[in-house]
Amino acid sequence: MISRRSLLTAAVAAAATGGLAACAKDGGGTNTGNGNGKITLGFSQTGSESGWRTANTKSIQESATAAGIDLKFSDAQGKEENQIAAVRSFIQQKVDVISFSPLKVTGWDTVLKEAKAANIPVILTDRGVEADASLYVSLLGSDFTEEGKRAAVMFKEICKDMAAVNIAQLEGSTGSAPAIERTKGFAEAIASETKFKIVVTQTGEFTRSKGKEVMEAFLKSHPEINALYAQNDDMGLGAIQAIEAAGKKPGTDIRIVTVDAIKDGMTALAAGKINGIVECNPLLGPQLMEMVKKVKAGQTVEKRIITIEKDFYQKDAAAALPTRQY
Ligand code: AHR
Repeated sequence: MISRRSLLTAAVAAAATGGLAACAKDGGGTNTGNGNGKITLGFSQTGSESGWRTANTKSIQESATAAGIDLKFSDAQGKEENQIAAVRSFIQQKVDVISFSPLKVTGWDTVLKEAKAANIPVILTDRGVEADASLYVSLLGSDFTEEGKRAAVMFKEICKDMAAVNIAQLEGSTGSAPAIERTKGFAEAIASETKFKIVVTQTGEFTRSKGKEVMEAFLKSHPEINALYAQNDDMGLGAIQAIEAAGKKPGTDIRIVTVDAIKDGMTALAAGKINGIVECNPLLGPQLMEMVKKVKAGQTVEKRIITIEKDFYQKDAAAALPTRQY
C-alpha cells in the first residue's frame, strides 16, 4: 500500500489557509432550543449521489448518536435551493450549531450572514464555499486540489510505458468545490509533461449512471481515448460499463484513475479494471461532533482541518479490501 500518511487529520496552519483559528465567542450558547439539555446540530447533506455520500451520511448520523448530540438531518436531494432553505429552517429552529456540505461554492453569503446575525456558529464539512471566511467557524474536509495533483502523479506512474496519453475527464457536479479543485490540481500537475493531453472533459455529476452515459458519448466522439480520470469512483464504475460495452478492456486499453476508494472502487481496482485510486475519506462524523462540542463550549477550533488520505494502486487493493469501512 502506498501510504502518504496514516488516516489521521491534521490541523493546518491558519497562515496556509488564509484564516485564523476561530472561536465561537459565546458558543451559540443562547440557542438551547430542544429543552433536553442536549446540543442540537442542524446538518444539511447534499443528497445521495455516490457511495462516498452514503458513507458520509452514515458517519454523521452514527457519530451524533454516539456523542449524545441531537441531530436534525436534512437531505437537499441535489438542489442548492433546498440546502439554503434547510439552513434557514435551522436558524428559525434556533439550533445550537449548523453544519453542511455545500452543493456549490457560490450562493451562500446571505444565509451565512443570517446565521451569524442569529449567533449560530456554522461548520462547513467536506466542501468549501466562496464567501467571507468570517461567516463560518471552520472547514473540515479533504484538500481537493491536492487530490487532483495526486491523480496526476498516479497517471505518471501507470502510463510510464505510453508515448501519448489521451485523457477523458469525468468531472464532479458543476460548481462544487471538489469538481473545481480536482480539475485545477490535475491540470496543473500534468501540464509539465507534454505526453498528457485532456482530449475531452464533461461533468458526470458524481453519479454512476451519468458517468456511464457521458463515457459512452466520449468513446464515440473520441476513439483515441486511452486514459480516464474520473473524479469519483461511481462515475468511474459507470464508465467501465460503457468501456466494456464498447469492446475495450478497462485498466488495459484505457488506464483509469478515480477518487474516493469506496469498496466498489477498490473491488474494481483489485480486479484490474481501475489502475489507481486517490482516497477521499467520508468518515468525518467523529471529528465533526468533537468540533460541535468545542464550538458550543466556546472553545477555539482550527479554521481549516484537512483530512489525510492514501493512494491505492492495483497491488495494494487486495490487502486493503477486507478492512475497508466504506
Ligand atoms: O465532496 C466529496 C465528493 O462528493 C466525493 O468525492 C463524491 O463521491 C461525492 O459525491
